[in-house]
Amino acid sequence: MAKIALIHGPNLNLLGRREKSIYGSVTLDTINEAALVWAGDTHDVRPFQSNHEGAIVDAIQAAGDWADGLVMNPGAFTHYSYAIRDAIAGVSLPTVEVHLSNIHSREEFRHKSVLAPVCVGQIAGFGWRSYLLGLQALVDYLADRQ
Ligand code: DQA
Repeated sequence: MAKIALIHGPNLNLLGRREKSIYGSVTLDTINEAALVWAGDTHDVRPFQSNHEGAIVDAIQAAGDWADGLVMNPGAFTHYSYAIRDAIAGVSLPTVEVHLSNIHSREEFRHKSVLAPVCVGQIAGFGWRSYLLGLQALVDYLADRQ
């Protein structure tokens, strides 16, 4: 059983209402439910969302005590949060960065992820399914390491 912290950053609580042409109409609750269905009895997935950088740093640090890895959509923090980058590096948990949209085909400022260098990899552009792809990528990565 893989224990996974599923972390959502700022404004993702607005999914379903926010810029639907970019992010779709699926809500965060539905995404979390889909993640829990995906996990079934096989994995332990614990979702968390915050609009606050420090709360996300706290969640990453706390995950260091119980999780095997992180799947994270850091929202706009992706592009500038060295605090989140240092937290990921600090706990040494394998982390998969996920995005609903293809950040590389959008505005220039979204092309850079300051977190990508401390992540195992990145999945972007598949809408809410990016999360399920990210979860599967993480468990496959963990299985390969055993
Ligand atoms: C996002 C992409 C970010 O650039 C943006 O700030 C978000 C959502 C995505 O999932 O596509 O809040 O992480």
